[in-house]
Amino acid sequence: MGSISLEHVKKSFGEVQIIPDITLDIKDGEFVVFVGPSGCGKSTLLRLIAGLEDTSGGTILLDGEDMTKAPPARRGLAMVFQSYALYPHMSVRDNIAFPLKMAKAPKEVIDQKVEYAARTLNLGSYLDRRPRALSGGQRQRVAIGRAIVREPKAFLFDEPLSNLDAALRVNMRLEITELHQQLKTTMIYVTHDQVEAMTMADRIVVLNAGNVEQFGSPLELYKKPANRFVAGFIGSPKMNFVDGQEAAKHNAHSIGVRPEHFALNRTATPGVWKGKVTVAELLGSDTFLHVQVEGLGLMTIRADGDETYTHGDDVYLTPDATRIYRFDAAGKAI
Ligand SMILES: Nc1ncnc2c1ncn2[C@@H]1O[C@H](COP(=O)(O)OP(=O)(O)OP(=O)(O)O)[C@@H](O)[C@H]1O
Ligand SMILES: [Mg+2]
Repeated sequence: MGSISLEHVKKSFGEVQIIPDITLDIKDGEFVVFVGPSGCGKSTLLRLIAGLEDTSGGTILLDGEDMTKAPPARRGLAMVFQSYALYPHMSVRDNIAFPLKMAKAPKEVIDQKVEYAARTLNLGSYLDRRPRALSGGQRQRVAIGRAIVREPKAFLFDEPLSNLDAALRVNMRLEITELHQQLKTTMIYVTHDQVEAMTMADRIVVLNAGNVEQFGSPLELYKKPANRFVAGFIGSPKMNFVDGQEAAKHNAHSIGVRPEHFALNRTATPGVWKGKVTVAELLGSDTFLHVQVEGLGLMTIRADGDETYTHGDDVYLTPDATRIYRFDAAGKAI
C-alpha cells in the first residue's frame, strides 16, 4: 500500500516561506505529477515527503501512519533523481543490488530481485557493464532498477528525464508509464514540462509559488482550469488571454481562448477578430499562426497542417463561443 497524505504542510528556509500551507491526498497506486514553473517548490515538496527535508509545520501520513519526523529509510519510499547518482566503479548488477546489499539481504533474494528489475527494464544484457559504458537512457533505467528492488511503497521521481534528448525523453516517458501500469505502485513525478504532466499523470498537482493552484486529472485541468494560472500553464501552445472591452462583453475581467478553438477565414466576416499573420510555423501536422489581432494583441492559433498562411496575410478569427474561458478580477474561473 502507498497512500500519501499531506495535512497543512509548511516549509520555510530561514525567514523565507517556500510552502505556505499544502493539504493533499494521494491514493494508493496513483500516478501523480507535480508540475509548475522553476522555483515553485516542486522538489522541496518531494523532499519533504521523502524525509530529506524537515517540515516547518503540518503532518505527513504514509498509509495513514504519521511519518512527519521519520528518517528517510523508515518511510519505505524510493527516490530517483535527474542526476542518476550511480556508482561509477560498480557494474550495473551491483548498482541495482546496492540497497539490498546494504540491507544485508540473502544472496538468492538479491539475485532474484535484480533479475526481475533487469527484465522489467530491459537491462538484461548490460548487467556486467559499468555505468560509463551506457547511454543516458540506460543509466536512468539502472537508477530506476535500484529503486524497484527496494519494493517501495511509492516511487518519487524528480525530473528524471531532464538530461535526455527529446526523442529519448518520449521513449522513457512511455517506459515509466508502462512501468507504473505493471507495478501499480504509487508514483509521484516532478516535472516543469506540462506535456509530460498531461501524458503521464492520473492526476496533476499544479504548483505556483508553493501553493496548489489545482489538483485534478489532465483533462479536468485542460477543460475546467480553476483559474487563469492553470489555464495559461496547461495546454500547448498556451491559451490566449484578452481583457478590457472584449472581456466585458462576456461579463468577465478577462477571457481566454485556446489556440485550437478558433475558426479561420481569409475573407472579412462581420463581428469577428481581424488580424495579420506575423509568423507561420508549418509543422506538417499542424500550422501555428502567430497573429497580431487588431486592438487585442498577439495571439497564437493552431490551424490544420494544410493551411498555408504566410507572414503579412490577413486572417479573420472566430473563437468557438462554447469554449471561451471567463475569469474574474482575481483570475478565478467564472
Ligand atoms: N536549502 C535551501 N535553502 C534556501 N532556499 C532553498 C533551499 N532549497 C530550495 N530553496 C528555495 O526554495 C524555492 C523552491 O525550490 P525548489 O527546488 O523546490 O523549486 P522547483 O520547483 O523544484 O524548481 P526547479 O523546476 O527549478 O527544479 C526556490 O526559491 C529555492 O531557491
Ligand atoms: Mg526542482
